[in-house]
Amino acid sequence: MPGPKLPVIAPLSDRIGREIHYLRLSLTERCNFRCTYCMPEEGVPLQPKRALLDFEELERVVRVFASLGVRRLRLTGGEPTVRKDVVVLVARLAAVEGIDSVVMTSNGARFPELAHPLAAAGLGGVNVSLDTIDPSVFKEMTRRDELSRVVAGIDAALAAGLEVKLNAVALRDQNDGEAIATLCRFAWDRGIVPRFIEHMPMSGGTLYRREDHVSAAEIRAELERSFGTKLESSTPLGQAVGPARYWQLAGRPERRVGIISAMSEHFCDTCNRVRLTATGELHSCLAFDDATDLRALIRGGESDDVVREAIRGAMAVKRDGHAFDLSGDGGPRKAMTAIGG
Ligand code: 5AD
Ligand code: SF4
Repeated sequence: MPGPKLPVIAPLSDRIGREIHYLRLSLTERCNFRCTYCMPEEGVPLQPKRALLDFEELERVVRVFASLGVRRLRLTGGEPTVRKDVVVLVARLAAVEGIDSVVMTSNGARFPELAHPLAAAGLGGVNVSLDTIDPSVFKEMTRRDELSRVVAGIDAALAAGLEVKLNAVALRDQNDGEAIATLCRFAWDRGIVPRFIEHMPMSGGTLYRREDHVSAAEIRAELERSFGTKLESSTPLGQAVGPARYWQLAGRPERRVGIISAMSEHFCDTCNRVRLTATGELHSCLAFDDATDLRALIRGGESDDVVREAIRGAMAVKRDGHAFDLSGDGGPRKAMTAIGG
């Protein structure tokens, strides 16, 4: 059920007119996987638990964003399902006045048991990060032997009525080539749209290797080669919502695939993302370390008006575009798990 419409004080928009109706909210920096392109094997230094926004604080901050016109929430991490009592939290956030939709990005490993309770709590969809359906490549890329749990998680999400998408980060000699078409078939067999993401140099570039980078153009060429047909654009440029550009096999609208090419064909001018980290830092752009500390305001006893003005202020300095460089420079020092995927 869509929530009732709130009177919006003035919609949140930035200096170049990008309107923000969508907030990505990280629930934790922790993850039960260790994907090689995202985290070192030993994990990342974690903030103490008291540094995280608690449920009360999360609910309040979401209420303030809703008063600024945010209608859609995406819960991220780290891995959002490792946050304690995530089902309870989803129910609370879905009930916030003005919030029409709560979705999640997850590695799917906890979905066999969580899909139904999360759907019942009000979750509308999940983007499952699945880079390969080859068990040994999966084990190499995630450092976990959990492919069968993730596949069961995807099927549980579908059975629970969630809208499911797949996200894969394409990396050279790991899951490129034939594996791209194999992953598409896996998704299409289930009525799911697969999306391929170019690797971005987070964490000061330490997990990024130029030679492993697979570009959007290479992914399209591989799809055309594997399926022996041209791709046609299925969202005309300028009408795209969010960062993915969608393609389809010629004349086959049910064979859709998204490509998120932050690096080679960037989409900053239509970016409508803002991210709140698990510790309450507001990042108006994924690619920079600068953030606005909303937790300090909330814990300092400031009013909703003050928090609202801080959010507006952060949007006013949302960058026009990122400075990612294919060589691995120009990104943030922070990790994806800290800023929120
Ligand atoms: N570049 C691109 N995508 C990344 N992800 C994690 N790290 C990176 C990176 N450096 C992806 C995950 C998941 C989503 C949250 O972000 O695979 O799909
Ligand atoms: Fe965890 Fe996602 Fe990072 Fe993999 S990419 S380690 S699943 S947060």
